[in-house]
Amino acid sequence: MNTILFKTVHADANTARSGTVSFEFEGRILTAPGGISVAAALMQNQVLQFRDSPVSGQPRAPYCQMGICFECLVQINGVQNRQACMITIEEGMKIRMQHGQTTFAIVQTEDAE
Ligand code: FES
Repeated sequence: MNTILFKTVHADANTARSGTVSFEFEGRILTAPGGISVAAALMQNQVLQFRDSPVSGQPRAPYCQMGICFECLVQINGVQNRQACMITIEEGMKIRMQHGQTTFAIVQTEDAE
């Protein structure tokens, strides 16, 4: 087996030195190296279901790992529809699986009139 294929890659030296972070997933306290994505942190903890399909109810998990497929949607700190592969894991995050159809919050910005 080529072990290089599974080596953790950090974006820069600062994130590589950020140590271990603790976070919560579905009420369980888990740990992961700092600087990696939420998706990577969950998969390192053998979490293989992130959400279920609002159409069929089938379990879903990350596929592309680069923000394209939206299979990795989870709820982070109470905010739904977060792409786990595009967000860096942080100390104390509260992550939950996303079930069924969700709603999008309307965000009002200063630019909008
Ligand atoms: S895994 Fe495809 S968007 Fe996150």
